[in-house]
Amino acid sequence: MGKKLKATAKSSANIAFIKYWGKTDPVTRVPQNNSISMCLSDLYSICTVEFRSDLRKDKIDFLGEKEVKQREIERIVGVLDRVREKSGLSLRAKVVTKNNFPKATGIASSASGLSAVTLAAVAALGLRLSKTELSKLARLASGTASRSISDGFVEWKKGTSEGNSYAVQLFPPDYWKIADVVAIVTHKMKKVPSTEGHKLADTSPFQKERIKDMEVKIKVIKKAMKERNFTLFGEILEADCLNMHAICMTSVPPILYWEGVTMEIMRKVQEWREEGFESYFTIDAGPTVHVICQQKDIDLIKKKLSKIKGILRISVNYPSIGARVINKHLF
Ligand code: DP6
Repeated sequence: MGKKLKATAKSSANIAFIKYWGKTDPVTRVPQNNSISMCLSDLYSICTVEFRSDLRKDKIDFLGEKEVKQREIERIVGVLDRVREKSGLSLRAKVVTKNNFPKATGIASSASGLSAVTLAAVAALGLRLSKTELSKLARLASGTASRSISDGFVEWKKGTSEGNSYAVQLFPPDYWKIADVVAIVTHKMKKVPSTEGHKLADTSPFQKERIKDMEVKIKVIKKAMKERNFTLFGEILEADCLNMHAICMTSVPPILYWEGVTMEIMRKVQEWREEGFESYFTIDAGPTVHVICQQKDIDLIKKKLSKIKGILRISVNYPSIGARVINKHLF
């Protein structure tokens, strides 16, 4: 019997400090602006892929998920097709994938899930790809997945076309002792998936303004990161979150991703700052709030968050590594 064409990858979700919202090309997922993120240590996906000659079609199993949408299956089959094309093989695959957090609630589940599938499929077929190639391949499945290939703090360079839009590392995980304390407030999937939201961005009268300011914003936040200037960094990331949500709220039709408890946490974070406990909020396309703080303040933030009603789970995240091949298979 020949060698098994099987591999497993683990990959982390990431939180964007400067958000990706709006694409220049929805098919290749080339974005309208650069974005900056950090890989998260406590929120991840694991995926095993095995290409087999006895399968007539791809078999995808989302372990432990009650609700699986057709588009999620199609996205994974899309990854398999692209990897098959690169390798010249046409074998079908069995895929088992799982997250350790609820998907589609404002934690980038497509980022961790689809970067894990991409790396597992590539490794299963023994392809040798650079991080740049992997990031581009992951981007085709989900924009944010391109940022989970590298470790630590990452910038996705929008590029000008499909061939030069990929993410690179800015700083390794141990560069800066900051954290993302995530307040998960729902297990329900959001009504408007991000892919649909991106399509609406240009219907907001403010999207052009957002994009116009991006280059300067990226420059300033990178400077803040380089100097480890937490205050400047926090002010920019919180402002960019509100800026992205302003686009969502003024799109046609409008998208409201927040719940009541989302707003309550946002207000509290601002109040804590006035009291001298420095942290900043950011929110992706969902109601989950990410509280960005310095690692010395984690316990305090956790304690303060635990007093707010409606938070289902608190997840403490350090800057982490991105996608890796691991030895323990899911089947
Ligand atoms: C709101 O990567 O989910 O999290 O490329 O269509 O899969 P697709 O979209 P997705 O975009 C979500 C973007 C965001 C902000 C960010 O993380 O930059």
